[in-house]
Amino acid sequence: MSDSTAKKWLKEAKEGKLKLDLVKDGKRTYVAQTSGNIETLEKLASERKKFRTRANNKVVLPQPDFYNHYSQAQIYDIVTNLEAHRELPRQYNYFDGGARRWDEYTQALANKEALNMITASQQLLDAMQAYLDTLLTKYKRVNVVDIGVGNAIPSRALIAHLLKAEKLGRYIAIDISKEMLNIAEANMKEWFDGKVQFEGYERDITREHFSNLLAEDYIQDENDEVVNLALLLGGTLYNLRDPDSGYRVIRESLGVRDILIHTQGLDSRTSRRYFDFNVEPSQPVLPPIHGFVVDMLNIDPSFYKLEIGYDEKSRQRFERIRFEKPLTIEFEFANIGKRRVSFDKGDSVLVWRFWQQTFPEVVEQFEHNGFHMLGSVQTSNREHVLTISQLQ
Ligand SMILES: C[S@@+](CC[C@H](N)C(=O)[O-])C[C@H]1O[C@@H](n2cnc3c(N)ncnc32)[C@H](O)[C@@H]1O
Repeated sequence: MSDSTAKKWLKEAKEGKLKLDLVKDGKRTYVAQTSGNIETLEKLASERKKFRTRANNKVVLPQPDFYNHYSQAQIYDIVTNLEAHRELPRQYNYFDGGARRWDEYTQALANKEALNMITASQQLLDAMQAYLDTLLTKYKRVNVVDIGVGNAIPSRALIAHLLKAEKLGRYIAIDISKEMLNIAEANMKEWFDGKVQFEGYERDITREHFSNLLAEDYIQDENDEVVNLALLLGGTLYNLRDPDSGYRVIRESLGVRDILIHTQGLDSRTSRRYFDFNVEPSQPVLPPIHGFVVDMLNIDPSFYKLEIGYDEKSRQRFERIRFEKPLTIEFEFANIGKRRVSFDKGDSVLVWRFWQQTFPEVVEQFEHNGFHMLGSVQTSNREHVLTISQLQ
């Protein structure tokens, strides 16, 4: 409930128009924490919610395409995240046109000389190549499992290196977005002239194990000649509410000799202020790469104010929208019915986050998720890290 509603109810209670037990402390009056008061307030809030839905409330319907892009289970996930966490899960922004937005954005980053999440992954993979080669010496074949593949730009040089060494086995790309997989596949074809057999799988890596994709090779590999090299590039898990959910799935999916390479941005004074996502900083608008779901839900920019910043307490950079008027989004579930999610004026929805982590925290996160870190390397500005790990 908003502050103004709370004040109004307190005033009505003081005037005897509302039955609430009040406590006086000097000049201040409070609503007592009694079970009777809690019940009355809950009733008032629920009546108010019903009234608001009927009266001065803007109701929006998602664009028809919303129902084509997402499965019923994914729509349910979006609804429950909005209701329970006031958050739009980041991964749904890479669907359909969202994949094109990401592709364009990262192509532009890849062409820059300065360090950014793409050029840093490329530079660090290159720096780690000799060490990785020693780890791979004893194997005849290396299967690459590109987790959250995006457009595969950062993985390109490593694939070329393994091809040249005649060690590349399968190339398995895993992504929640079919469109991202299509872009990665087209890139692989163009870059390697059909020499890389692309296998793409639509999976949510926070929920679906991928060990079944690797099982056949593992069982047939009697002489231990094949190893899986998993890539988790671009800090993918640090946009999620619970990065551990991804680490758990990866741990359960890999085998004892498999190798995980991971890149992410590190916490620093500069990175806390980094919001250069193709927007004019003086006029904050939701960056196109973060606004696909908001657009799909028909939430017009006139309904909200954008807030961007770094939250010291939770240690995350965030972008959220704060509603300037009450809003209800009405979702339709085929053969089941409608579900409405309502927001008060002043409520906010988190659209993007990045958990800021120092290097010791990165090490700790790998440790507590059952990985042993073999090595790591950082960019000279200390803002990006690459780690190499195996299961503990
Ligand atoms: C930050 S981008 C990184 C892309 C690429 N690895 C790179 O470094 O450029 C995240 C990628 O992971 C995918 N992704 C995000 N969350 C996912 C999830 N829960 N399951 C599967 N894929 C996910 C997105 O669709 C996107 O392609």
